[in-house]
Amino acid sequence: MDPDTAGGASARPADGEVLLAARALAKSYAGTGGELPVLAGIDLEIRTGEIVALLGRSGSGKSTLLRCLAGLIPAGSGSVVYRGEPLSGANPGSAMVFQTFALLPWLTVQQNVELGLEARGLRRAERAAAALQAIDLIGLDGFASAYPKELSGGMRQRVGFARALVVEPDVLMMDEPFSALDVLTAENLRGELLELWESGQFPTRAVVMVTHNIEEAVLMADRVVVLDARPGPLKAVFDIPLARPRDRGAPAFGALVDRLYGVMTGRAQEPGPALLGRPGPQAGGPGRPTPANTPLPQAGVDGLAGLAEILARHGDRCELADLADELGLEVDDLLPMVDALELLGFAVVHGGELLLTPEGSGFADADVQDSKKIFAGAVLDAAPLVRLIVTSLQRREGTLRAGFFRDLLAHHYTGEQIAQQLETATDWGRYAALFTYDAGPEQYTLDEGGAAWHVRPPRAAAPAG
Ligand SMILES: Nc1ncnc2c1ncn2[C@@H]1O[C@H](COP(=O)(O)OP(=O)(O)OP(=O)(O)O)[C@@H](O)[C@H]1O
Ligand SMILES: [Mg+2]
Repeated sequence: MDPDTAGGASARPADGEVLLAARALAKSYAGTGGELPVLAGIDLEIRTGEIVALLGRSGSGKSTLLRCLAGLIPAGSGSVVYRGEPLSGANPGSAMVFQTFALLPWLTVQQNVELGLEARGLRRAERAAAALQAIDLIGLDGFASAYPKELSGGMRQRVGFARALVVEPDVLMMDEPFSALDVLTAENLRGELLELWESGQFPTRAVVMVTHNIEEAVLMADRVVVLDARPGPLKAVFDIPLARPRDRGAPAFGALVDRLYGVMTGRAQEPGPALLGRPGPQAGGPGRPTPANTPLPQAGVDGLAGLAEILARHGDRCELADLADELGLEVDDLLPMVDALELLGFAVVHGGELLLTPEGSGFADADVQDSKKIFAGAVLDAAPLVRLIVTSLQRREGTLRAGFFRDLLAHHYTGEQIAQQLETATDWGRYAALFTYDAGPEQYTLDEGGAAWHVRPPRAAAPAG
């Protein structure tokens, strides 16, 4: 299927050879309280002729890994190797398509596409010819002299593709290229790209794409690589042996989606949900949940209570993929709520299935006042940050500024993560009537439930009643 590279002078490796590799790749970002590891021990090879999807929860480092592979940011340790040579600086064999298109509004479609060629030292006529060819290939003919603002989102993203493809990169990289598009436009564009890829007209040797959408990964990729939410080796690698075009309704497709759901939600060896978990050296030992090693999932009470009620209506159990379908959600939207239900002891994930526990069932069936009480008990048991807020308020005459907790969290989380942690803790604690929060002065005040709560020994040792 590959164009003939007769003559033997070509440097292009044959199909299936390693083009690009990450070797023991690690990457951290500087946080307020020190280095925050995002990637660690990543080994990954990209071979000619394949589409590889990087799948993982929000914050698992998908974009970071892609940017390292593209040489847009340097590896922390380990290396990225392109055609056998360790990368330093931008990867000369890659081009990137971004979620947000990243077009220059004052340039026409053709000029935007030609931007991709600027660094290549081509003459003007050559640039124009190459750009028009890419514009044609991607279905933009007739739009060459249009400005981005005259185009729909789908057409804008076509410009993004044309700009990347015009350089005929060895590896096309895409970071959630369809997620800013409406459902139908996205599906159409995916289909067209896959057709081009299958037809051999695609001027690139491999594709690496980031997605948080399991179905999109199974639809498009030859290999799906799952990143762990905690920095560490890849969580799983799945070959997708389905012929193209793929049928979303086929049982084999559904089975792969289910298995990926299982992997994405599974956290067998982890003490708590790892949505944002970056336990630093300061984190408490396993078994003693702290705000540092037990990050709260980004899920509001309304969402998680709603999910519990839907599960109850389904007889206390349901396939996660079916739940997402029924709710019109993607995995990223659903998983934080699933994490929250698990953390609070209201549900467990088994295989690709979510099952309500007796506590969760009680929570779903209770009236508002009872459900608040059940929720308060679960939160105080399982959410260390909420417990910390309550015990701190009890010690400090009942009121405290949010800044106090931000400082406490600064050694374990980035600023953005701290805001998320406090948002969830505040939402949960308020609903449970443990404390109130006034956004004006950013102040927490003890509520009835919090004032009445007494620190007890751990659950196992607690006296009955
Ligand atoms: N430039 C940066 N400086 C500091 N922290 C960063 C930076 N970029 C990313 N992070 C943090 O690193 C972690 C991984 O981010 P990254 O964008 O790679 O994840 P992702 O898997 O692509 O997430 P999403 O699905 O939300 O796009 C996140 O916690 C993020 O807040
Ligand atoms: Mg990302």
